[in-house]
Order: sequence, then C-alpha cells, then structure tokens
Amino acid sequence: MVRAIEWRDTPRPMIRLIDQTLLPLEERYLEVTRVDDLVAAIASLAVRGAPALGAAGALGVVLAMHQGAEEGWSDLKLQAEIERIRVARPTAVNLAWGVDRVRGAVGAGVAAVLGLARGLVAEDEAANRHLSRLGADWILARTGREQVRVVTHCNTGALATTAWGTAYGIIHELHDRGNLGLVYADETRPLLQGARLTSWELHKDGIPHVVEADGAAASTILRGLVDVAIIGADRITANGDTANKVGSVALALACARAGIPFVVAAPSSTVDMTTKTGDHIVIEERDGDEVVTLGGRRLAPEGVRGFNPAFDVTPHDLIAAIVTEKGIVEPATAPDPELLAAVAG
Ligand code: MRU
Repeated sequence: MVRAIEWRDTPRPMIRLIDQTLLPLEERYLEVTRVDDLVAAIASLAVRGAPALGAAGALGVVLAMHQGAEEGWSDLKLQAEIERIRVARPTAVNLAWGVDRVRGAVGAGVAAVLGLARGLVAEDEAANRHLSRLGADWILARTGREQVRVVTHCNTGALATTAWGTAYGIIHELHDRGNLGLVYADETRPLLQGARLTSWELHKDGIPHVVEADGAAASTILRGLVDVAIIGADRITANGDTANKVGSVALALACARAGIPFVVAAPSSTVDMTTKTGDHIVIEERDGDEVVTLGGRRLAPEGVRGFNPAFDVTPHDLIAAIVTEKGIVEPATAPDPELLAAVAG
C-alpha cells in the first residue's frame, strides 16, 4: 500500500509525500523540509484528501520547529509559520485539527510533538480500517445484496489518508469479503482525482472498476446500475451536513430519487461539532483556469473565466448513513441538530 505522507528523520528531518499532481504517469516523491514547500504542496494538491491533510498539519508543526531551530526563529515567527500551514486550505477541517492536536506541545520540544503527530497518523489508519468494517456490514445489511455495485466520487483511498482509506476502505473491505460487484469511479473534474488517483489505486488493488464522466453518474444511479454511493468527507457539521468534492451532492440527489443509500465515510476527525450546519462551511474556490484548461491546454475561448468551487455540501436529509470508526449515524431518518455528537473526534 502506498504511503501518501510520512515523517522521515534521515538523511535529514522531512515530510515525504508522493506528488499526487503527477500520478498516475509518474510516481515521484517530494522531500519537504521547509514550511514554504509544505504550504505549496498543500495548495497544489501534491498532498490532498482530508485525513492526509490532518497528518500534514500535525507533521507540519514538527517541520516548522526543525526549520525554526535551524534559522533561529522567534516564538512569534514559529507560531506565524504554523498558522500558515493551518490555513493553507479552508474546507477540510482535518488540516486545522491536525495542527491543533499537537500545537499545544511545542513548549515540550520537537520529540514530544513528533510523538503526538506519529500517534495521530497511527490512529488515522486504525480508524479507517475499523470504519471500513462497520460500513461494509451496514451496506450489506441495507442493500441485502451478495454483490454490491458502488459509485464513488473523488479519491478517498490510501492517497487521501495516512493508509487504507475511508469510502475507498469500505470498497476494499467489500472486495476482500467477496461482496463487491463493480465500482463506478467518477472522473472528478476538474483535477481528475477519480480518473487519475482512485483508478490507480483500484487497479493496483485488483478491484474491478470503470471510470465514468461525472455527468454520467446520475444516470448510472437512475438506471439501476449501482446499489449504493459511497463518498468521503472534508467536513461534517453537527447536524450531519457534509462537505465533499464538488459533484457529490448530485450523486446524493440521484440516490434519493432512485431510493438507494448515499453513504458518507470519514474518521471522527472530520466531524466538526463547532460548525452547526453546512451553510457555515467555507467552500474553497480554486483558480478558474483549472476548469477552462486541461493538461495545460485551453478549452474555453481566451478571456472566458472559469468558476471553480472545489467542494459542495450535501444536506443531511439526503445522507442515509455517516460511518465513522466510533459508529454510524443515519441523518436522513434521525434529524437532530447535534446528531454527530456521539461519533465526533
Ligand atoms: O481537493 P481534494 O482532492 O483534497 O478533495 C478531496 C475530497 O473531496 C475527498 O473526498 C475527501 O477529502 C475525503 S478523503 C478520505
């Protein structure tokens, strides 16, 4: 299994990342030793996916402490650099969560912070593996099918996490149990996380799948070609509203019409009880050129601007189940302003 992000002490202290902007054509690793480079890697999506961003936040504090010691930063400068990491992308709550989980230990020294960050990484993998088992049980019981056909959006596998994956983890678990029919992986415009990354992982794991255009997904669902949609999450608010890669809400609407479950899978670190509803989630808007160009070539006429919200919000009443490692809640049938309290991190 690929490790999207990990800490290395040798030959010098660094965060080692697989550069996800180059996959699947090239498997190149970045050795990040400076805060500037980590912030750039987060902004360019070289490292991406909510749980992986949580690890980037926590390990980023360690990185900043090393750079600060080398360059003689004041405490104020160190805190400002840590803050730059914390806000490098706004929507996935895990990034700020990862920073906040370890930041309080800065006074105790770099070894203490690294210990906490490594603990967070280990917890993420354990959470993903556990929620995958819970999610697979729930889906098999709900659909009553021996061979479950799945549609998924964006990338939620090992690349998007510290290991194993969330929605992808459930798919993997179904496959390992012999209960997976076929996966429809949405290509996920404009940066193609589905076509490039999910397909790369599914292919490596030997999981049967096809890649479909995002525009095909609703019809795939309405034609009865899938039994369940399983997606990840960047932020789940107290009432169950969920931000995920743009295009997710279209799947949820189609699932509601078709009467099949729309399932969100995420570690409890993605649950944000301080944000009451999806209306309050900050949706990252990325450079419009990502939409009006493809592989560096312009698609739309010169001068036309792209509109590029990177995420959307699925209202809780469209979500059959939110699966975390702490348990499952069912927002569509159990509306509650504090629904997620029992499974929050
Ligand atoms: O912009 P990205 O690629 O970081 O968006 C990622 C997603 O939307 C994922 O579905 C989400 O972070 C969950 S990853 C387990």
